[in-house]
Amino acid sequence: MRLAVISDIHGNSLALAAVLADIRAEGADAIVCLGDNVSGPLDPAGAAEMLMGLGCVAVAGNHDRWIFGDTPDLIDRFAVSRLSPAHQLWLSGLPATQVLDGEVFLCHGTPTSDEMPWLDNFYTGRRTELPDEATVAAHADGLDFPVLLCGHTHIARCVRLKDGRLIVNPGAVGLQVIIGSPDARYALLDRREGQWSVSLRTVPYDHAGAADQAARNGFAQWRDVLMHGWDGPEGLF
Ligand SMILES: [Fe+2]
Repeated sequence: MRLAVISDIHGNSLALAAVLADIRAEGADAIVCLGDNVSGPLDPAGAAEMLMGLGCVAVAGNHDRWIFGDTPDLIDRFAVSRLSPAHQLWLSGLPATQVLDGEVFLCHGTPTSDEMPWLDNFYTGRRTELPDEATVAAHADGLDFPVLLCGHTHIARCVRLKDGRLIVNPGAVGLQVIIGSPDARYALLDRREGQWSVSLRTVPYDHAGAADQAARNGFAQWRDVLMHGWDGPEGLF
């Protein structure tokens, strides 16, 4: 069994197309998606169309939820202005958590919050820290699945708890913030003889084209981050 895990696309259809091509080349039995699908000043409708076409098991991210809330931020408002009613219906129907085949648990942030980071603290400047082991393990309490998936922080990381469960953040498809590389990220998980292993992948794509889209849509700070993979002091949201 090979599972491809994508997350945090943020409306970057160029990055998503490159990742899906890489998944096809590598071969996967299924794809799952961990949310923050369209909020970004790039191509929200294109990303929504591609994701809907996958028909994959998926959960909502905080931005997917905020789009329909009382206080969407600038990026969410841009995204929703580009989405069709069908895109919005699909997005609003995504659940907060899902389980695939009784083995793989999906959430965006932690199992109980789409805004809390699980395997990282939020980054300050160019640094982020793995929380202590007890904090990481506490979020997995009561979740009797061999694989637990999360996204949200845009930082690819894989942790194996003492009891053998894997927690995997595939990183972001569409927006690198403190990686220092513009390449798209996702994860391939393989189950062989009952044992799960993880490959964290990087995929080069037309990041200059994505940066151009952001600039044309009036978001210069996104252009810079998409070019280099480093968030500046102005922030993005
Ligand atoms: Fe998020």
